[in-house]
Amino acid sequence: MRTPIIAGNWKMHKTIAEAIALVREMRRELNEIEGVEKVLCPPFTALAAVAELIRTTQIKLGAQDMHWEDQGAFTGAISPLMLKELCQYVIIGHSERRQYFGETDEGVNRKVKAALKHGLTPIICVGENLAQNEAGQTEAIVSAQVRAALQGLTAAQVKSLVIAYEPIWAIGTGKPATGSGANAIIGQVVRGTVSSLFGESAAQALRIQYGGSVSPESIAEFMTQPEIDGALVGGASLSAAKFVAITRIAAQSKQQGAKNRT
Ligand code: PGA
Repeated sequence: MRTPIIAGNWKMHKTIAEAIALVREMRRELNEIEGVEKVLCPPFTALAAVAELIRTTQIKLGAQDMHWEDQGAFTGAISPLMLKELCQYVIIGHSERRQYFGETDEGVNRKVKAALKHGLTPIICVGENLAQNEAGQTEAIVSAQVRAALQGLTAAQVKSLVIAYEPIWAIGTGKPATGSGANAIIGQVVRGTVSSLFGESAAQALRIQYGGSVSPESIAEFMTQPEIDGALVGGASLSAAKFVAITRIAAQSKQQGAKNRT
């Protein structure tokens, strides 16, 4: 059984003071939810403050990006060495990094390797845009992104990863994919590609999230699907009430989905 994982990607939101207030508002309730791994991904500036606030809880911390080098003349960049003092997770290859900051498949692969080298678990984002989706290229695009991101890894490393399938047309639009549609891409394309490259046992071990307009209303539809192991939540993770609700419903509906299938 894969432990479901719900991660909140705050993107470029929240000052340190605002981050502290948000975590204080959700910390107790979030911590009490069992059966799901809970991860907060605030901006770099708030990582240390949030790490301190969740130190005695089950809540984990993630960064939203990093450089692949340990250190050096890379003005403005943050390295895995710096993150590993604070975080367990790091989001890599988010579509906004690819779209606005020139992130390439090759860069994603380097970052994934660097994260693993330092004991950080990457949450690797893949997903097609609207034009690609409408042109019937979803499978080819997603499969190529998975292949590129995982190039040169071992099966043992792959087992520990998290991949987030985030169709770009569903991000921030209020129009999520359907549960069955996301389940098909996650199972056949993402897990299928991993299986063909690293074997079925690696494919069955790694966790694959859905992301894109996840809300308290839509989370159950995703979590009851057999291939979906959690969610990467953007907008709704900025509300304590919504993020707690999503996490709680995720834990309940994962159990219910498993029960329904037996
Ligand atoms: P959204 O963002 O939940 O606001 O659609 C998801 C993401 O970009 O990770």
